[in-house]
Amino acid sequence: MSILSLLTETSSLPAQYTTLSTEELKKRARAAREKLQDRVYILGHHYQKDEVIQFADATGDSLQLSQIAAEQTAETIIFCGVHFMAETADILTSPDQNVILPDMRAGCSMADMATISQTERAWTHLQELFDDTILPLTYVNSTAAIKSFVGKYGGATVTSSNAHKMVKWAFTQKQRLLFLPDQHLGRNTAADLGIPLEHMAIWDPIANRLEALCALEDVQVILWKGHCSVHMNFLPKHVENLRKNEPDRRILVHPECTHEVVTASDDNGSTSYIIDQINQAPDGSKWAIGTEMNLVNRLIADNPHLDIVSLNPFMCPCLTMNRIDLPHLTWVLEELVEGNVVNPIKVDAETAEYSKIALERMWKHLDV
Ligand code: 13P
Ligand code: SF4
Repeated sequence: MSILSLLTETSSLPAQYTTLSTEELKKRARAAREKLQDRVYILGHHYQKDEVIQFADATGDSLQLSQIAAEQTAETIIFCGVHFMAETADILTSPDQNVILPDMRAGCSMADMATISQTERAWTHLQELFDDTILPLTYVNSTAAIKSFVGKYGGATVTSSNAHKMVKWAFTQKQRLLFLPDQHLGRNTAADLGIPLEHMAIWDPIANRLEALCALEDVQVILWKGHCSVHMNFLPKHVENLRKNEPDRRILVHPECTHEVVTASDDNGSTSYIIDQINQAPDGSKWAIGTEMNLVNRLIADNPHLDIVSLNPFMCPCLTMNRIDLPHLTWVLEELVEGNVVNPIKVDAETAEYSKIALERMWKHLDV
């Protein structure tokens, strides 16, 4: 869903849920949850609001949530996250299970930056330039159609917690790789593995053009020109300011940040990695975190013995993750009690088949 439609589209939430107090909503959500018992399982991504996370049966990063979804036997999974995550859950669960996204407007601007028609067009162009030497890899933050494309052409999905292993594996398969849709995760990972920045070209899906800084035969990685609009808000100047004013504050960022920010920071990793580092931090230690604000605020609240700030003091939560809120969650739970599955996410059988191949290749090759 584009940012424009996100801002203009309204959700189908019945009006009555918008006037209820938080206490009333909590009471009703709890009552509905209790009635549904093990018929429903609620997943919550780390970037979700506290008002939603309190109802999650499991929380996690993208990798953990997809693994948990694959093991679920509940009739219905309510996915408190964004659209591509709910699609992945649908792909990994059986056809008779339902996956619900409480608000259909919870898309991801990064996933929207690689459409299937752009990708097919790029692939044709890249095959002409490089022949059959490219393996496609896609970050799980992509539509099911892109995962399916990647699965069809021998590639796999990656998450921010296993990108290094998957990129290493990709080079055992082909001479070069196409990394969709996040150029920053792709660049940060490939650079960590020793690939020179000048051997990474960029595919611009709008101009339909390859931007390369080296001879074509030296291109090892083709980065799709996509990004996360949240993590793009962490800038080198934020790191510089902290280094100057508070050199003892450890800077920990998500690899969706730019290469300049990641290399200037002390450490980087997935949302689970960030949480683990904070859980192991010595009392009184000082941290600046470069990731989504709902998670940073939760880390601050849960760890009063630490001094935690956001790397960007003016950071906002992810707009689309925030679409999932208590009124929407209460609504879908109460409808389920009445036997109605609202906002179901269904991936068509062919797309699901190849997407599943891409996801399964990821799990199979994690030991490389
Ligand atoms: P992870 O959960 O893999 O760290 O991804 C972060 C993210 O941007 C999810 O939308
Ligand atoms: Fe998409 Fe970035 Fe929001 Fe994650 S944080 S859902 S990648 S826009």
